[in-house]
Amino acid sequence: MCGIVGYIGPKPAAKFLLDGMSKLEYRGYDSAGIAVYDGNRINVEKSVGRLSSLEKKLDGRFPAGHVGIGHTRWATHGRPSDVNAHPHADCSGKFVVVHNGIIENYLHIKEQLIAKGHKFVSETDTEVVAHLLEEYYQGDFEAAVKKVLSEIEGSYALVFLSQHDPDKIICSKQDNPMVIGLGDGENFIASDIPAIINHTRKTYILSDGEVAVVTNDSVWVTNRQGVPVSKKVFEISWTAEAAEKGGYEHFMIKEIYEQPKAIRETMTGRLSKDDSTVLFDELKWTKEEAAAIKKIVITACGTAYHAGIVGKYYLEQLARLPVEVDIASEFRYRSPLVDSSTLAIVISQSGETSDTLAALKEAKRLGARTLAITNVVGSSIAREADQVIYTWAGPEIAVASTKAYTTQLVSLCLLALYIAKLRGAIDQAALQKIIRGLKNLPEQAHEILEDVEPIKTFATQYGFNEDVFFIGRSLDYAVALEGSLKLKEISYIHAEAYAAGELKHGTLALIIEGVPVIALATQTDVYEKTISNIQEVKARDAVIIGLGFKGDKNLQKYVDHAIFIPATEKHLAPILAVIPLQLLAYYAAVTRGCDVDKPRNLAKSVTVE
Ligand code: G6P
Repeated sequence: MCGIVGYIGPKPAAKFLLDGMSKLEYRGYDSAGIAVYDGNRINVEKSVGRLSSLEKKLDGRFPAGHVGIGHTRWATHGRPSDVNAHPHADCSGKFVVVHNGIIENYLHIKEQLIAKGHKFVSETDTEVVAHLLEEYYQGDFEAAVKKVLSEIEGSYALVFLSQHDPDKIICSKQDNPMVIGLGDGENFIASDIPAIINHTRKTYILSDGEVAVVTNDSVWVTNRQGVPVSKKVFEISWTAEAAEKGGYEHFMIKEIYEQPKAIRETMTGRLSKDDSTVLFDELKWTKEEAAAIKKIVITACGTAYHAGIVGKYYLEQLARLPVEVDIASEFRYRSPLVDSSTLAIVISQSGETSDTLAALKEAKRLGARTLAITNVVGSSIAREADQVIYTWAGPEIAVASTKAYTTQLVSLCLLALYIAKLRGAIDQAALQKIIRGLKNLPEQAHEILEDVEPIKTFATQYGFNEDVFFIGRSLDYAVALEGSLKLKEISYIHAEAYAAGELKHGTLALIIEGVPVIALATQTDVYEKTISNIQEVKARDAVIIGLGFKGDKNLQKYVDHAIFIPATEKHLAPILAVIPLQLLAYYAAVTRGCDVDKPRNLAKSVTVE
């Protein structure tokens, strides 16, 4: 997490830095800071709180200069405060650094530096980097940076600025993203594309262990040993508008409304015209390759993990393969039983989540075939995996993931059908039925988004309840998990999701009069059983909001309120059912006055373990 920016060129650096940081605030927003060289010295300005606090502090007096670096922080080591905010400087103030990641051996280095007389002012791990640079500097900035990099352990995206050598910025990365935007007589550095997209589409994406020396008109990349690396220019395909709010009040609601388009684009080119088959040009598996898979493991975090749970149902039911789903941070530490007959699927919107990346590396180490489902072309996970399926959702900025989830489900469904056909596990009629259902999804998602008034009403009516329960069976349970996560992460309402049949084994004790229970009932094969579970909570005087298919008059008899979605295949129901739940969470958060796009303590892309 943490957003990083850098600028070198003829224009005022502070302007780019602050603008770029505003585009990256989703990465962290508990403090912000910039450092700009004014032709004489480096001036550092920082402030605890949102970027707006820093801007308020500056009150229009932007530090002058044409080279600078900036940072928006999500605290790991040291609480959010002015002093812990980046950039961090050495004792002399002549070296400054911004960092995303964790320097794991910082305590050891700090003790050694203190013994040598260095004075530390912050509680961060990052500050050791600036002091180490001061310690190693002997007239050659680049050589000193490389020495620092050989000393530190952990994950990082680091950007260095030196008063001794102010015509360049040096940056490097290990397990954290770093992009260099190539301008005309100017260059840009950023942890993520949205910060630079208004300025250039041409980029170099740094790989682990690379060191870039960036000047006005050149970018020189080597490895840490100094061996030159030739980089290919990567053209960004996103439009600048895609990373803007475009008239919506929040990114989250904009992204919810982008789902019909995102779903359509994720399917584009992947379904044959006659609905007979799924095409994956990026995979091109043979029957033998598909037959060689004995087991699938899916790993991911947060919303992507919930998509993985839906994926398990798809792959087991359609492709008839055993599937395990794991939270990425658990997978790597549980000695998983993975070998060359395992297909390891990792799911990550950003393609940068540290735990997911580590799980992918672990699966590879154990010999598995690896496949990434991600939204960001050229991301670390995309580059690490053997093969990649991209979700074409466009940039997702809001911390609460929405369109990434629905497009992950579409991708997983396509993948399950693709494998099912190759393995002969599905008959043609069933395959075609689901493909036709998939093709209807964009229009059906649009239909749900046309009529949000009832959902707004529930949100205002129940938005101030402190507990909400979600229940469902089978795929409805998987969606319930995501619905409850949405609600808790942005509205701070305590929300729990249960497999409807499990509620009576403990949690039913919490169901008292007036507690809202959101009951999903889209899965026809377990419908009657879900209705029984609805009656169990109804008998405890809960308020039931049922979610079912249009035309389900029966459901209405058992619930207090009903939300209806267009009828579809049971496997596709999650892709539509989640949309009202996203809207419910959004409007509940708005009702409660929460900061929807920047929920407390969270960040969009978690690049620390
Ligand atoms: C963070 C975000 C979640 C997201 C998760 C995984 O926790 O707040 O919204 O689902 O990371 O992110 P990824 O980019 O790997 O999908």
